[in-house]
Amino acid sequence: MGMPLTSLYGRPLLLAVAAITLPIEPRPSVAANGMVASPEPFATAAGLEILKQGGNAFDAAAAVGFALAVTYPAAGNLGGGGFLVGLTADGRPVAIDFRERAPAAAGRDMFLDAQGNVRPDVGVTSYQAIGVPGTVDGLLLALERFGRSKREAVLAPAIKLARDGFPIPYSLEQDLRRHRELRRWESTRKAFALGPDSAGPKMGDALRQPELALTLADVSRLGRRGFYEGRVADLIVADMKAQGGLITHADLEGYRAKPREPLVFQHNGYELITHPLPSSGGVVLAQILGLLDVTELKKAGYHSAKAIQLVTEAQRLAYADRNHWLGDPDYASVPVSRLISKEYLDRRRQLLPKDGRAGKSDGVEHGLVESTETTHYTVADRFGNVVAVTYTLNSAYGMGAVAAGAGFLWNNNMDNFSAKPGAPNQYGMLGAAANAIEAGKRPLSSMTPTIVRKDGKFFMTMGSPGGPTIINTVLQVYLNVTVWGLDLGEAIDERRVHHQWLPDQIDYEELALSPDTRPELERMGYRLHEVGRIGQAVGIMRTPEGYLAGAVDRRGNGLAKGF
Ligand code: DON
Repeated sequence: MGMPLTSLYGRPLLLAVAAITLPIEPRPSVAANGMVASPEPFATAAGLEILKQGGNAFDAAAAVGFALAVTYPAAGNLGGGGFLVGLTADGRPVAIDFRERAPAAAGRDMFLDAQGNVRPDVGVTSYQAIGVPGTVDGLLLALERFGRSKREAVLAPAIKLARDGFPIPYSLEQDLRRHRELRRWESTRKAFALGPDSAGPKMGDALRQPELALTLADVSRLGRRGFYEGRVADLIVADMKAQGGLITHADLEGYRAKPREPLVFQHNGYELITHPLPSSGGVVLAQILGLLDVTELKKAGYHSAKAIQLVTEAQRLAYADRNHWLGDPDYASVPVSRLISKEYLDRRRQLLPKDGRAGKSDGVEHGLVESTETTHYTVADRFGNVVAVTYTLNSAYGMGAVAAGAGFLWNNNMDNFSAKPGAPNQYGMLGAAANAIEAGKRPLSSMTPTIVRKDGKFFMTMGSPGGPTIINTVLQVYLNVTVWGLDLGEAIDERRVHHQWLPDQIDYEELALSPDTRPELERMGYRLHEVGRIGQAVGIMRTPEGYLAGAVDRRGNGLAKGF
């Protein structure tokens, strides 16, 4: 007879099997004790390390946020800001706003020329485009309020990745070649070893970022003081002075991430927990879902012309309100509860076209009462904590400059303000007084980190980059699971559509609309506009057994992994 079943080449079979590691993670990836889903595998590994050391989801989320600042420079950041939505182990929804603020020297007309026209580049590619960064304070606040690990432990993986380097993935090699504008800044050329023209590091080369490692080490040692005061603050202010930026020591010392009351609303048997203003994400999502008739949607059938119409018309009305009403609630008075109330949405619903024809954005005003990158990641732990974070530099690699000596890239989120009422920003988004530039104010965002509960229990969490398309990406992932019955991986990969009131068109990924749906929508009066990619979602879902299933979008190169 052959070999005994218990041995292979004389070793116990079990050991031989254990030595086989899966080359890729199954999708969704399912685990019992914790799950991290992020757009970059080393950052996912950093979060897992913290969970395995006994840290909770908030500790791991802070670790992933700091690690992405090293390994995913397109959007991971120290020089930007974002929003965190969480669910604590005892079932409490929480939110932390770490959006950038306008420096004290900023003012309403700072992006206008003498004739009152918008100087578009100033708000995007100059040092005046930089808002006072919130990421360091936001991640540390999450750690302090809800975490259980030591700050030094949470920062250790990021420091190691920056100091010792990590192998450059194909996507980063390509990015660094393609983004020519990064070469404009000496500090950026130095940080990423960029040569003239398209010369730069190759896939597999180690990217070491010693200055960034020192900045992270200061944060590890001193907490927020290691960034907003002292050596790093001095480097920031010197960089601002050299390049015409506005941020002062007082702006840095005065920056505080804010705990906020999450925006919680009910829909179709689910409870959605999202971030309130100054992100428009939650309000707009609540409006779209409040306007949408799920029964009618279901009857229309997945991505049928009728279903696309139903969703588009709800998006049109909600984005029209966004552009008029929404802004930083600490500076503009925004009637949020009225805007998402049943009475108001019932009234708005009357404006939906009834004749099977496309609505028109021209006729729709707000009712009575905004290659680019951002990134989303999420962690769930065995204690029951869930954390969803979307943070950003706004454009891919922000405004392109690395803070000289401090090693991190600067945001250009001042572009998310409305430079002039009615003038579009880089996303074609308009805006009004509520989102005008003002000293200290936070620019209106579309970032939509979202956690969904059902029957009081964690059901799923998701989020995405994509500027104004973020809200509609989160909407479609949610509908794909709860209405169309897809699993999380499928729900995230499905092709998407997007409408934002103006421009009055449906953006669609090529395979989102079938060859017979397109002419049908055109016949109804819709203008169709094919785009390359809408969003890059990640999410975690609870399986019926209580396991955690994580998934990342096929549009990116992320990793969901648990243990
Ligand atoms: O806060 C916002 O809405 C924008 N700064 C987000 C930018 C973005 O998502 C770009 N990503 N693809």
